[in-house]
Order: sequence, then C-alpha cells, then structure tokens
Amino acid sequence: MDWDRLLNSAWEVRDHAYAPYSKFAVGAAVLSADGRVFQGCNVENLSFGLTNCAERVAIGAAVAAGCRDLMAVAVVADTATPISPCGACRQVMAEFGVKAVMMANRQQRMEMSLQELLPRASEGILDS
Ligand code: THU
Repeated sequence: MDWDRLLNSAWEVRDHAYAPYSKFAVGAAVLSADGRVFQGCNVENLSFGLTNCAERVAIGAAVAAGCRDLMAVAVVADTATPISPCGACRQVMAEFGVKAVMMANRQQRMEMSLQELLPRASEGILDS
C-alpha cells in the first residue's frame, strides 16, 4: 500500500475544509481498486447535523466517478493523537469494501483494518 501517496493527498485536500463552526479541518483520500485516488474534506453546515465528514466526501467523489470498489482510506487532522473516523463513516467504508484505514496527525500514523474498526459491519442485515 502506498500510504505516502494517500496521506499526501489527504493533507493537500485538508486545506479546502469548510469548518467555520468547529474550526477543525479534516482531509481524507480514498484509493480505488483500479489505483485512482479521490479526495474529500469536511463540509460543515449551520445546521450541524448536516455536516459531511471528509471520509464520506471522498467516498462520494469516488462513487460519482464510477469507482465503487475501494481499498483504503487515509484520514488526517492536526490533532494530538491520530484522528479516528466516526461510526457513520466506518459503515460507509464497509459499503464499498474498504479494507485498510490509515489515521494520522503531523507526527504519527496509525493503521487499522476496517474489520478492527467495525466488526460485523453487515452480518445479518437484510438476511432472511
Ligand atoms: N470530522 C471528519 O471530517 N472526519 C472525522 O473522522 C471526524 C470528524 C469532521 C466533522 C466536523 O466537521 C468536524 O470534524 C468536528 O467533528
């Protein structure tokens, strides 16, 4: 996995974060199975619940480009400890087959599998 490529891409797009309410800028980059990289930043809203996380914005960009088979996500923020994706983003990663997640701040990187971050993501749902 070329984590440097994904992390650089995530730091780059973080500059575009729209976070006037939290002042907390996040960048994310997604690697598709065919080797393409898609970027996302958080996009906040005055109605706080409508905020989109960087990870879901990046995944949405991939899907809009026709890439539904996703491999890895990098997410970055200027935090004391590496940022951790929210539960909603983990579930959306599972939807599109993401296997590995790299979480980073300026000094540290932490890699985890999506299986570790979200065990039993879809077992039983819509089964009969
Ligand atoms: N946020 C993300 O974009 N990704 C994460 O993994 C955690 C949180 C955003 C949402 C909101 O704009 C701000 O960070 C504070 O929660």
